[in-house]
Amino acid sequence: ALLDAGPKPLAGRTAIVTSGPTHEPIDPVRYIANRSSGRQGHAIAAALAKLGADVTLVSGPVTIPDPQGIRTIHVEQAEQMRDAVLSQLPSDIAVMVAAVADWRVTTSAGQKIKKTPGEAPAPLQLTENPDILRTVGHHEKRPTIVVGFAAETQDIEQNGRIKLEKKGADLIVANDVSPETGVMGGTRNRVKLITESGVEEWPELDKDEVAERLANWIAEHLNQGAV
Ligand code: CTP
Ligand code: CA
Repeated sequence: ALLDAGPKPLAGRTAIVTSGPTHEPIDPVRYIANRSSGRQGHAIAAALAKLGADVTLVSGPVTIPDPQGIRTIHVEQAEQMRDAVLSQLPSDIAVMVAAVADWRVTTSAGQKIKKTPGEAPAPLQLTENPDILRTVGHHEKRPTIVVGFAAETQDIEQNGRIKLEKKGADLIVANDVSPETGVMGGTRNRVKLITESGVEEWPELDKDEVAERLANWIAEHLNQGAV
């Protein structure tokens, strides 16, 4: 069908993509999470598959449908996402798009926590979650191309460069997610590509177009063997 049309520069290649948020339970009915619709990550999984890659999408809880014809592993928490990603190594490509919750509740309650009206709630004790991108970027089975995202509200280029270095990524796709940009939850995105060799700015595009361009970028760099 449509998916089968066009050039296949990623035929024979494998890819792992994370998408969506993670939910870290407080108790059976409450959680902490980052905002994420999963639109950009799901679009990237589809775009890589369209170029012929064998894609595994690891998705947190989202309301959008699984991309057609793509193996999708559903997870809820960061640790589950990490385990699912590592289970797919080795892989040629990793694109970590998920908005992973940075912390989880240290000990989530087995029963619903009841409020006592007029009384301050017990503070939540938090533990840092594993950094999946950083783990993959420094892994002994590190994929040839490792891509991360950087959702920022200020100093986008500088924060992006720091993430490129710390996480061992080949490329950081940085975007401004300030509320006034409307990027969060929307269908469009404006990104900057940050690599060792500099910054490339893309115009505002549909998330599908960002995904297509990014898949092409990955195919070019993978097939020339270096970033
Ligand atoms: N990421 C990840 N695992 C985490 C946190 C982030 O894999 N526990 C990945 C995201 O999928 C993204 C990149 O790291 O590709 C950057 O995420 P971001 O939240 O922007 O960066 P952090 O390192 O978490 O730093 P901060 O939230 O403090 O800006
Ligand atoms: Ca974060």
